[in-house]
Amino acid sequence: MIMLDQLNNLLKTSHSNPWKVEDFCGIDQLHLGGIPATLALIDGLPTDAKHGLDIGCGLGGTSRLLSKTRACHMVGLDLNEQYIKAADLLNKAIKPAPKCQFVVGNSLHLPFSKDSFNFVISQHATMNIGQKEALLKGLYAVLKPQGYLLIHEVMLSPNTVESGIESQVRYPTPWANEKSDSRLCDWQTFSDLAEKTGFKIQQFEDNTASALTWIRQARKQKPQTSFNPQLVLGALAGQMSGNVLSNIEQGLLQIVSARLYKQ
Ligand SMILES: C[S@@+](CC[C@H](N)C(=O)[O-])C[C@H]1O[C@@H](n2cnc3c(N)ncnc32)[C@H](O)[C@@H]1O
Repeated sequence: MIMLDQLNNLLKTSHSNPWKVEDFCGIDQLHLGGIPATLALIDGLPTDAKHGLDIGCGLGGTSRLLSKTRACHMVGLDLNEQYIKAADLLNKAIKPAPKCQFVVGNSLHLPFSKDSFNFVISQHATMNIGQKEALLKGLYAVLKPQGYLLIHEVMLSPNTVESGIESQVRYPTPWANEKSDSRLCDWQTFSDLAEKTGFKIQQFEDNTASALTWIRQARKQKPQTSFNPQLVLGALAGQMSGNVLSNIEQGLLQIVSARLYKQ
């Protein structure tokens, strides 16, 4: 409850009213590249794709940005009840409130009917999920035909597993306190499973170099507002981001974005 109480206080005492979607980017864009990376990812969406699902939405920044920039109606889903309450709180602080609904749920057991969404978006939200095939099947099912899956994920670099250096990935990271909580895979494995599920891969980009530049820069900057990652990730936030930086520098992680299509 600490984060919710702190958030409530910040929303009441900080004087940036009325709040804008971008004001919360230090806590609700918890992925490498921040808002620019989200904008780049959604750039590939057709303009008539209006109904989206944001899996592992955290505090809901991706959903809010889609509502603001694309007039989308978004459903954000996350396992963490506190994050969902915080996502609601932030949404209500913006006037008019972005068209987002936030629900507690597991990406592996989606509480939606078949063919519900024009697109699903996932930013740094599958690194704890070992059952990637079941995940992809569930996402495929809730997408309408010709729907899109946009992913922006942390993956293992190619050949990390074969060369036995996967064990060198350092923890804690923002997605896992220790190795046993982490379920990283590489793009080849992910894309093979996606194609087996029925997805067509329309676009793939290796964002590792730009993510590296971004995280180096972000770590140098002093937080400009009280809405900073420590509020969500706790006292280990600095160590987590240091480990992500070092893991990328060691060539262990690849940052991937891709657009997949339900045929
Ligand atoms: C690193 S955060 C990213 C949050 C958000 N996508 C963003 O970019 O700011 C990963 C999120 O995935 C959520 N998550 C992990 N496994 C999940 C699952 N099986 N179902 C739903 N959410 C999950 C976590 O609770 C966390 O909020």
